[in-house]
Amino acid sequence: MNTDIRDKFLNFFKSKGHQIYESMPLVPDDASLLFTNAGMVQFKDIFTGKIPTPTTQRATSAQLCIRAGGKHNDLENVGYTARHHTLFEMLGNFSFGDYFKKDAIAYAWEFVTKELGFSKDVLYVTVHQDDDEAFNLWSEHIDIDRIKKMGDKDNFWQMGDTGPCGPCSEIFVDQGEEFFHSQEDYFGGDGDRFLEIWNLVFMQYERSADGKLHPLPKPSIDTGMGLERVQALLEGKRSNFDSSIFMPLIQEVCKITNQAYSYESGASFRVIADHARAVAFLLAQGVNFDKEGRGYVLRRILRRAVRHGYLLGLNQPFLYHIVEKVCDQMGGHYHYLTQKKQAISQQCKNEETRFFETIESGMEMFKKELESLPKNTPFSGEVAFKLYDTYGFPLDLTQDMLRDKKIAIDMEKFESCMQEQKKRAKASWKGSGDEIKNGDFIELLNRFGSNQFNGYEYSNFSSKVLALLDENYKEVKELNNSGYILFETTPLYPESGGAIGDRGELYRGEKKIADVLDTKKYFGLNISQIHALDTIKVNEILDIVVSSLRDEISKHHSATHLLHASLRKILGSHVSQAGSLVEATRLRFDFSHPKALSTEELEIIQEEVNRLILKGIETKTELLPIQEAKSKGAMALFGEKYGDIVRVISFDEDSCEFCGGIHIKNTANIGSFYITKESGVSSGVRRIEAVCGRAGYEWGKNALKTLENARGVLKNQDIDAGILKLKEQIKELKEKISKSSSVVDLKPIEQIKGVNIIIEKIQSGNIKEIIDIAKNNNDKIAILLLQEEYGKISLACGVKNAPLKAGEWIKGVANIMQGQGGGRDDFATAAGKDIDKIKEALKFAQDFAREKIEERD
Ligand code: ALA
Repeated sequence: MNTDIRDKFLNFFKSKGHQIYESMPLVPDDASLLFTNAGMVQFKDIFTGKIPTPTTQRATSAQLCIRAGGKHNDLENVGYTARHHTLFEMLGNFSFGDYFKKDAIAYAWEFVTKELGFSKDVLYVTVHQDDDEAFNLWSEHIDIDRIKKMGDKDNFWQMGDTGPCGPCSEIFVDQGEEFFHSQEDYFGGDGDRFLEIWNLVFMQYERSADGKLHPLPKPSIDTGMGLERVQALLEGKRSNFDSSIFMPLIQEVCKITNQAYSYESGASFRVIADHARAVAFLLAQGVNFDKEGRGYVLRRILRRAVRHGYLLGLNQPFLYHIVEKVCDQMGGHYHYLTQKKQAISQQCKNEETRFFETIESGMEMFKKELESLPKNTPFSGEVAFKLYDTYGFPLDLTQDMLRDKKIAIDMEKFESCMQEQKKRAKASWKGSGDEIKNGDFIELLNRFGSNQFNGYEYSNFSSKVLALLDENYKEVKELNNSGYILFETTPLYPESGGAIGDRGELYRGEKKIADVLDTKKYFGLNISQIHALDTIKVNEILDIVVSSLRDEISKHHSATHLLHASLRKILGSHVSQAGSLVEATRLRFDFSHPKALSTEELEIIQEEVNRLILKGIETKTELLPIQEAKSKGAMALFGEKYGDIVRVISFDEDSCEFCGGIHIKNTANIGSFYITKESGVSSGVRRIEAVCGRAGYEWGKNALKTLENARGVLKNQDIDAGILKLKEQIKELKEKISKSSSVVDLKPIEQIKGVNIIIEKIQSGNIKEIIDIAKNNNDKIAILLLQEEYGKISLACGVKNAPLKAGEWIKGVANIMQGQGGGRDDFATAAGKDIDKIKEALKFAQDFAREKIEERD
């Protein structure tokens, strides 16, 4: 791929005094946005004056953006147009109260005509209909008949429902009439002939939640130019997908499907090429497939691509190949793609495998519904919901499948089915931090600036109380109850990097006057939550004593660094931190790794961490310029913002990380380290829980005690031998039971191809055990038992040497009774609600089993 345009752009603006900024993460630190959707997002707080303007008031960046959710959502168009993408790069230049319209227009004109070489004869611009100033400024560069006035819809830009916004001016390239004959190919129409390449926004307002516009402190500039569009234009291509950015990906799809691509019938190829890019970047930046929020958008993107692959005849995972290709293609500029290629390809493949398991059945259900759909009738909302709920078809996927046929879904019904799930999704967005934005923090920040933290050197310190806040974060002069305190200088460490904030006590002379319950950063201010036992006044000087819990927190914090290093050493360098929690009595560390860790791997990792502890390594803390730290190989957290100077914590050559946390002085202080649990957090992300320090000692002590008790119960010195003996006894007993036919007196309702089919409603007994026994007694069996007790229905089924999947079977049966369930291929359980449907469900169970067994030849 040609990267000239990106470099040319950044260097051009650098030569005009702009500082180059790296692309910020796709997941913004901003609860009001699903994804970073424009270059200005990383500067939003500067525009609104929430944080001070940097010394260099000019910035430029090539920002990765995703527009697949929220206000700017292009997902449904991707593949069907020449220009829409889920992920794209936005080139932008920004002025924070420095230059305004005149220079912004002059720079853009110079870049487009001189650097990119577009002829004046192909260029047009638009301005907001009320913006005479912009009109006049443009008329210095371009004939006035090429300046068009437009309304708010086209020429007023805003980031989201709230935030900075302003009138804008767009630059268009006329691609010539010869290829464009649609009715819409007039200027301002929806056709492709006149292509917008650059949007210059004259940031003048901030829109608040009530919809009102408030003037910004300083009028600013925000621009955005789509790299993919410009690349295609310069290469003389009619569509972005024909350019050197997308063609190699499309060709890969051709290879895999053994089919040729043509623009006219190539929507599926385009969808796959586009979506592979978004999947690669989102996974590489730590977003994981999930049932809600951002992870669900990622899942929707992947499933849309898989469904288009399915249309092209693919029935096994393929997208991960394209994702690998994206990593190769873009890894030169975005190094993390190269580093994480293997892990994200595996993550993608796992998720594809999951969807391929249900896509076939889902497509069948869809087809059936479509075939029986009378003309001019919407597609059943219930079926759309079932497709969503049972087969994992996101709503927009089903809509996409109906797109050609111009059939809509009965949304009212769908929505009513969805209500439950919606409630859940909403709950997960709560607690995102928005509620605290109503506090008086900005006011305090303006008055005092950020306060000093000296906790690396001190755990006791006397300092002046700068401000007090009540429980609602409103400023008060005195506090004699629960609230918050801002000190001029504080040794209390604020929660960050996964480590919990410091607790402690406040003293006036000898007298304890408050407990410190927690410490956090609010808008850059280091603030502690306290419970006052006496009246505290602003401006008085208090003694701050950090709780001794900090020592134990530090041990767990240093242990996460050793764990991180050990994981990378033993599992590979694809491991990277996805999250952590550090407390005084435990730690939790989430990291990217495609599969569960084996017992042996866990043992070796625990061994390695303890080796580093026993080595007694002195902790080294350095403050380094960021470039130097990076070249030393210090690991940084993705998505974390770092300043020019960073704090680096290292333990010999074994571990080196960017970190602002508090650590022990020597690894030996950690004591001993035990892994207590390994589990999966989401697809491709594993979690290790562990203990060390005092908690480690306690854990070891309790484990020994448990063993001692077991020894007592088993009346055996050798616990392993005792357990083996018990297991033998259980086995013998089970065999005895299975031989006694009175317990399992079930008769097959039919036998097909040697498979005994047993489907029965039984009155008593443990259905799971009975199934176990029946399976032991039959070579080929498909058994489903149902029990009804107090209006509740429980179901279980087992399959042995028969061509049907227990999980699928029981799901269908439970569905009929308004229930749900699932499980493995050989055993599954479920519950049902509607007892009136039992008969129907049992009938379905039989038909289903029969059909599956007969169909297999
Ligand atoms: N923020 C502007 C846009 O996204 C430049 O179009």
